[in-house]
Amino acid sequence: MCGIVGFTGEISAKDVLLHGLKALEYRGYDSAGIAVETENGIKNIKTVGKVSNLVDKVNEYGDSLKATTGIGHTRWATHGGVTAENAHPHRAGKVTLVHNGIIENYQELAAQFKEKGLEPVSETDTEIAAMVINDCYTDNPIEAVKAAVKRLKGAYAFCIIFDDYPENIYAIRNGSPLVATNTDEGSFIASDMVAIVKYSKDYFVLPEHHIATITKDSISIMDLKFREVEPDMMHVSWDATAAKKGGYEYFMLKEIHEQPEALTNTIVPRIVGGLPDFSVDGVDDSIFEGINNITITACGTAMHAGLIGKTIIEKYVRIPVNVEIASEYRYKNPIVDEHTLVILVSQSGETADTLEALRLSKARNAKTLSIVNVKGSSIARESDYVLYTHAGPEIAVASTKAYMVQMSVMYLIMLRLALLKKTVDEAEVRRLTAELIHVPDYVKTILDSDKAIQKISNKIINANSLFYIGRGLDYVLSCEGSLKLKEITYIHSEAYAAGELKHGTISLITDNVPVIAVATQKDVLAKTVSNIVEVRSRGAFVIMITTEDVDVNTSLCDHILVLPKVDQDFAPFGAAVMLQYIAYYTSYAKGLNVDQPRNLAKSVTVE
Ligand code: M6R
Repeated sequence: MCGIVGFTGEISAKDVLLHGLKALEYRGYDSAGIAVETENGIKNIKTVGKVSNLVDKVNEYGDSLKATTGIGHTRWATHGGVTAENAHPHRAGKVTLVHNGIIENYQELAAQFKEKGLEPVSETDTEIAAMVINDCYTDNPIEAVKAAVKRLKGAYAFCIIFDDYPENIYAIRNGSPLVATNTDEGSFIASDMVAIVKYSKDYFVLPEHHIATITKDSISIMDLKFREVEPDMMHVSWDATAAKKGGYEYFMLKEIHEQPEALTNTIVPRIVGGLPDFSVDGVDDSIFEGINNITITACGTAMHAGLIGKTIIEKYVRIPVNVEIASEYRYKNPIVDEHTLVILVSQSGETADTLEALRLSKARNAKTLSIVNVKGSSIARESDYVLYTHAGPEIAVASTKAYMVQMSVMYLIMLRLALLKKTVDEAEVRRLTAELIHVPDYVKTILDSDKAIQKISNKIINANSLFYIGRGLDYVLSCEGSLKLKEITYIHSEAYAAGELKHGTISLITDNVPVIAVATQKDVLAKTVSNIVEVRSRGAFVIMITTEDVDVNTSLCDHILVLPKVDQDFAPFGAAVMLQYIAYYTSYAKGLNVDQPRNLAKSVTVE
């Protein structure tokens, strides 16, 4: 939520900032702004709308914006409507800043300023933070930042310029992410490496509650006792092209097509001698010792990957697995203790609710294992163990390849546990592992089924509402299919366990209501087919997703999408692609911005 970027160095600040903001736009896209240090002081330019609007506005200034220091922001509004005044950067006295996060006590602070006769220009919590920092400032920026954060409650990543130090940027964070790097061209800081990978693949994560002083030659870090701290350098394995569309019209389509590679990169290093093995991650088997239950907690699509994990782990390992929405888990006094393995799933590794769920689990002495895509992110760093997914940057707001690799890690965990707990004999673990290794190729064969799906999307484009039904793995997959469709097409949809429909919801099935029936699970096929017959006899327009080795009467449905033959436990990897395509092509046919659906942001760093 919100992307921030800062630069000071030898090259054009506005070019670095606009490039960075374009790359960070997935984090928020309702308004944007930059502030750069010009010969005539700081120039603050802000617009409502996409970064492209900001680019147009900045271009109007021509050469007068020659500057080598600046900060920028792309916003997902939390406090205050979408207006140019509320867009960042914000300014108070000698302070100009950009912010990602929420200052929870801003109203109380605003009231204190009001008593002194000081009123903000905007409706934002961020401007109040700028006022606090300015209030704490006499002549030393680091002391001002240190004093100010004592007065602020909430989550923040700030990049700050003080008028008296026009070539420096100061930064601090609590909760929200910041990565930074210094190169021959200057020093860069941003919410995410996608903004700066063009300039460097080496970086460090700014430690929380540490102040960075960023000059064109160096970046120094101090803790709040003013002790210098050496950063832990990290390296990204992907390059700038991974964060570009590469000929695809939308990132989502590109990311769907990247799934086989992401799966290979995630699965293959964890197979040793035909068996699952997490040595490469430094995750030893002791994490699974003494565990008698598992809780998986996450949000949105990541939580849906958890539901897949629950289904297969309970089937093969016979251990209870509880899946909790992180925003519920953190406030419900969850039943977890030292015998619980808590698995946190997150693409970004920064989702606020998942992060808090992690902290709560640790406080309850649970063992914590995270499945995270972004290296060095907060959830990865704070959990006891981490299994990174190797999907590369996921830019489209709708998650696709991250879901796919999260699922694959669930299978790896299931297989390792089944082996350790001997709930499945080794030969069967080997067979299942071989199936998993085959998944990237399997997914590849499904990628060109998009033509058939485009036709189907044209049939559902005008629906007001539709339903996804399935049983077992097909049901939990339906939850993901439904979320994807809602998120990017704005068509209402619901996922139902097929057998549950007749307990109320079937009253909504009337003529031509689309029902997408996922029917890949052979052992419950007859039951799912009965449910299909029930909705069809009430007029539903049924689209069935099944596998070629399933014996089904095709006249039962209006459209059928057939996956190649596969062990039914691995069918979710194929069906997921079809569900992603249905959402993608329906959104596309409606002429919507597939990658940037309304009201959303990629990384939800506020609760
Ligand atoms: O970064 P995370 O995986 O923690 O994000 C969790 C959800 O916000 C995310 O999966 C969201 O549901 C997706 N936009 C759905 O496509």
